[in-house]
Amino acid sequence: MTSNVKLKNWVEEMAALCQPDRIHFCDGSQEEYDEMFRLMLASGTAERLNEKFRPNSYLVRSDPADVARVEDRTFICSKSEADAGPTNNWSDPAEMREKLNGLFAGSMKGRTLYVVPFSMGPLGSHIAHIGVQLTDSPYVVANMRTMTRMGSEVLDILGPDGDFVPCMHSVGYPLAEGQADIPWPCDGEQKYIVHFPEDREIWSYGSGYGGNALLGKKCFALRIASVMARDEGWLAEHMLILKITSPEGVSKYICAAFPSACGKTNLAMLNPTVKDWKVETIGDDIAWMKFGEDGRLYAINPEAGFFGVAPGTNMDSNPNAMLTLTENAIFTNCGKTPEGDVWWERMSPEPPESLIDWRGNEWTPQSDSPAAHPNARFTAVASQCPVISDEWQNPNGVPISAILFGGRRATVVPLVAEARNWEHGTFMGSIISSEKTAAAAGKIGELRRDPMAMLPFCGYNMADYWRHWLDVGGRQGAKLPLVYYINWFRKNENGGFLWPGFGENSRVLKWIFERCDGSAGAVDTPIGALPTPDALDLDGLNLDPGALEALLRVDKEGWLEELPMIREYYSQFGDRLPGELSSLVDHLEEALQA
Ligand code: GTP
Ligand code: SPV
Ligand code: MN
Repeated sequence: MTSNVKLKNWVEEMAALCQPDRIHFCDGSQEEYDEMFRLMLASGTAERLNEKFRPNSYLVRSDPADVARVEDRTFICSKSEADAGPTNNWSDPAEMREKLNGLFAGSMKGRTLYVVPFSMGPLGSHIAHIGVQLTDSPYVVANMRTMTRMGSEVLDILGPDGDFVPCMHSVGYPLAEGQADIPWPCDGEQKYIVHFPEDREIWSYGSGYGGNALLGKKCFALRIASVMARDEGWLAEHMLILKITSPEGVSKYICAAFPSACGKTNLAMLNPTVKDWKVETIGDDIAWMKFGEDGRLYAINPEAGFFGVAPGTNMDSNPNAMLTLTENAIFTNCGKTPEGDVWWERMSPEPPESLIDWRGNEWTPQSDSPAAHPNARFTAVASQCPVISDEWQNPNGVPISAILFGGRRATVVPLVAEARNWEHGTFMGSIISSEKTAAAAGKIGELRRDPMAMLPFCGYNMADYWRHWLDVGGRQGAKLPLVYYINWFRKNENGGFLWPGFGENSRVLKWIFERCDGSAGAVDTPIGALPTPDALDLDGLNLDPGALEALLRVDKEGWLEELPMIREYYSQFGDRLPGELSSLVDHLEEALQA
């Protein structure tokens, strides 16, 4: 229970609305976690994996209609539509509240309401913030225990009058008296992922999956936190955080923002191929950064676990993720082998001869659908990662030396380019575009602008967000990170990747590290500073002939074709667009034509 007055009143009010059979205050214990899985085994939601291969681990299959974030059902309900901006779905807050009240009325009948207190960030850190999620999903409770610091200790910190972000969640599948439950309850017709930025409040209805339902993650740590950050002068970003250490033993910290399913988890955990360099993980998805007294930006990972893309993860591409998943893991929408282990595409060079796919059907390598859903995910605690940094729970965060922006671009964008300054870096982040992935419902492969990898996650007008970035750069005494635009995904004429990626990305990280020290060479170009061919350590790497030239070429024609698209994208923001950014497009055009 709790002594917190706001929490007590809110739970009482929500219970009256949703009419659950029971209320349970989560303590975050192992027994409670095990109890969630006892319930999920009984309802057919989860299966226990073979102890021999995956101790204390489970496979969960979701409803095929509930497999990814639903961006078209995600709403920012600020008072004024202009404050949500043209890239968000807006709805009038009063009308939305009425709608939600209708949907949540009686939505938990026959179920338990779980009260899930959680801290985003190390307990008690001045960069951390507290949320409380109410949910009727044991799957969500179990995942929240892995993904956040969850339970009684958070209530202790909250005390009688501490504040928190209320996160209301229901799968939207009430049970009538005597009605049997189904394995993955959700509302097949209506889903609403709703944010009230001025009230710092989240309401999510109808989905049990990922970022729709684990409300500490995208809803709180990005959409609501981005608004808090704007108001309070800090940054809440869709970024991994890594620590890189040179052979001389010097460490730097780097953040990187790539859109969903574009390589954050992989980069955060990479095994460097450059000799005697070391990379360690601090976070793989979200960074909160606040200024320290020395004027530098200090970052924490607000999460406590990884909710990572399973397909493509293997002992070659990301061994440290594979080793994180050896026990105490939750797998969602993966295939299950006859031995009782999980399998997904490219997990092993040879697929198993047969298995049960993510929908529960018989599968063989000849089947024309994948064994695992392309957005199948693993959930595991960060502390199990073999390369987790000693500093990952440092309440003061780590000082950031460089920020990387990137996306999936088969053409035009080079392997790496350095921004001339913070303002130019903000411009680079604002023009990121990327081919769509399976992390969100919709058409895969389509190119879309995804500024700072925040398109689906910015809780306010994107143009105001860029203004905030520029203001952060203008802060008195700020000692800012260098900014880079990177692209691991350039392709040749045959559709193959020009750059081998994964551990080989350490070569680019090494160049960036040395740029921060002022020791590595670069050549100025209209799109930023690119490595001189000898500045990039390619020792032992066999690139295809011509690949390096292609990767480091300034594709003038390609960029000139890009400019009208950037201008058109910018134009939707009208006079909210910071003038600095439109000037930088003009500047780029002149430089490309010179
Ligand atoms: P979210 O959790 O959705 O935010 O995704 P993420 O950004 O953490 O992406 P992740 O690291 O899980 O990678 C997604 C996909 O990109 C996987 O299928 C990877 O195999 C692939 N990938 C990651 N890094 C590279 C790379 O350097 N090169 C290539 N070619 N593919 C990569
Ligand atoms: C993403 O889509 O960027 C994710 C997965 O990290 S989810 O938690 O579903 O948002
Ligand atoms: Mn993500």
